[in-house]
Amino acid sequence: MPLPVVLISTISRGGVRNAAPWSCVTPVLRPLDEILIASWLKRDTLENIRQTGEFVINVPPAGMEDAVMICAENFPPEVDELEKAGLQPRPSKLVKPPGIAGCLAWAECKLEEEIAREKYVLIIGKVVHLEADDRFFSEEEGMDYERAKPLCSVGGPNGMQFVRPVFTGKGDKYAAGPGTPQC
Ligand SMILES: Cc1cc2nc3c(=O)[nH]c(=O)nc-3n(C[C@H](O)[C@H](O)[C@H](O)COP(=O)(O)O)c2cc1C
Repeated sequence: MPLPVVLISTISRGGVRNAAPWSCVTPVLRPLDEILIASWLKRDTLENIRQTGEFVINVPPAGMEDAVMICAENFPPEVDELEKAGLQPRPSKLVKPPGIAGCLAWAECKLEEEIAREKYVLIIGKVVHLEADDRFFSEEEGMDYERAKPLCSVGGPNGMQFVRPVFTGKGDKYAAGPGTPQC
């Protein structure tokens, strides 16, 4: 099953910028008040979220694969990963970690709850500010994903392939929301 690829940007207590690709990420129902990410224990991202309580979920478009894969490398915590990957910061409105320029959308989050499991943790973030690149979003149509090309990936026996969503030719007026039993 293809999963989304987002870049999570954080900063350490000492101010070092970090970015890492993440696929185990999901909105918690709608509207997008909360977001859930699953993290293995040994992650600078997790450490930074614990230290500062803040992170930004950036939605990269197809075309950013190379930078995404540089951020997937295991750099020591003192390395500025935005600089390593040639990514430009984008000032955030309500949190300290910058977003990443050239992405499609930015969810600024504050740590709400950490659910500890034996080998990993689930992080629930409160979305305190949400912005999207207006060139790819409209009130009437939502996201023009064919033009925006949000990055996804699918894993297989020979590694990982980057993919993006396309229209199947079918649509429906269905809209899940608060109070609907399906949501
Ligand atoms: C496409 C992709 C998706 C990933 N998704 C996750 C994930 O959901 N959870 C996780 O803990 N690591 C995930 N990783 C691995 C981290 O991105 C990788 O270990 C990275 O080096 C962590 O960086 P950090 O130590 O700076 O946080 C993913 C890697 C890739 C390439």
